[in-house]
Amino acid sequence: MKHIICVGACYLDTILTVPKFPTEDSKLRATKLTRRLGGNCPNTLSVLEQFIDESIELHFLAVLPSEHSGATKFIRDSYSKVQIDPSCIYRVAYDESPSSYIFQNGETNSRTIVNYNELPEMTKEEFVHQAHLLSVSKEAVEGWYHFEGRIPDIILHGIKYLRASLPGFKISVEAEKPGREGLQELASAADAVFFSRSWAEGHNYSSAKECLTAQATLTLPDALLCCTWGSAGAVALQKSGDGTEVWQSVNAWTMKTREVRDTIGAGDTFIAGMLFALSHHGENWSLKQKLEFANELAGRKVIQEGFADLAGQMGLNTKLPWYTPKLA
Ligand SMILES: Nc1ncnc2c1ncn2[C@@H]1O[C@H](COP(=O)(O)OP(=O)(O)O)[C@@H](O)[C@H]1O
Ligand SMILES: *[C@@H]1O[C@H](CO)[C@@H](O)[C@H](O)[C@H]1NC(C)=O
Ligand SMILES: *[C@@H]1O[C@H](CO)[C@@H](O)[C@H](O)[C@H]1NC(C)=O
Repeated sequence: MKHIICVGACYLDTILTVPKFPTEDSKLRATKLTRRLGGNCPNTLSVLEQFIDESIELHFLAVLPSEHSGATKFIRDSYSKVQIDPSCIYRVAYDESPSSYIFQNGETNSRTIVNYNELPEMTKEEFVHQAHLLSVSKEAVEGWYHFEGRIPDIILHGIKYLRASLPGFKISVEAEKPGREGLQELASAADAVFFSRSWAEGHNYSSAKECLTAQATLTLPDALLCCTWGSAGAVALQKSGDGTEVWQSVNAWTMKTREVRDTIGAGDTFIAGMLFALSHHGENWSLKQKLEFANELAGRKVIQEGFADLAGQMGLNTKLPWYTPKLA
């Protein structure tokens, strides 16, 4: 049995759709309110659980409020295949999960986010403890550990622990937030890295290609690097130890008859697509196929609200000849 373990923060998102961005000290009526699970890893897991088969177990490793809180119940109820026990850490003294309040501007599709998070972050010791616990109780010793690039020093410690004690795991990290120090060190230690456009631009790279060209010299010899660029698509580079490089790029996947409706979690969906491709088709899909799959999945995500039924959409409608969905 293989395991995919996503490590990151769990948010509860409240999305208010507004006809225009509010001006300060004014009153505005929202046209819609939606509550859903948020945060990078929860998004990725919501998509991934639609695709994985019996050969893989999915786990979420996060700090959550008390086991009996409404927030924890909401998280538990949100998933069908993702396991949160025994991987999650419960903070008994807290009842609120980290929260995001998102203004989705119906006019421009911009999203403006206000976060609130009082939960103390995971410590190095806690990560090691949880990874060890999973390895013993679930025999989780091979597969993928995917990290949201959030608390770099703790993750770096975690990566060192995994390399030394659980070498059956491949490691991926996501470098998304431009202002966060230490993500470069994580990128340099991972088997696969997902760079976002905002991180790349924050580092003065003017395109995905430029970002990966520079990052090629800073990462492991056989790393897989991906950089997504919103409506301009994505680029991937597979390096190998002998110095050869395979490059692939794709234009964003679009449907003429459908407009972009909700881009929240587009990057997280892309990552889910790549993690699925890597874990289920690592050997038998080429880099081009993996990239096209993840890109189409992310493109289908942005034309709908939320993450529901993306596997269904891919299964019924994709023209990718090598993708044969498992029919329920
Ligand atoms: N406007 C769009 N049209 C089509 N596909 C999109 C659009 N925006 C994002 N995508 C898809 O989602 C992927 C990730 O988008 P991006 O905006 O870079 O992520 P993030 O959620 O990190 O901002 C892109 O590489 C592309 O495949
Ligand atoms: C990016 O460019 C700006 C302006 O030239 C500079 O101030 C900043 O230090 C650069 N950032 C990085 C990460 O190199
Ligand atoms: C592709 O590889 C996956 C595992 O990587 C395997 O489960 C699947 O059966 C393979 N499919 C084909 C068509 O070879």
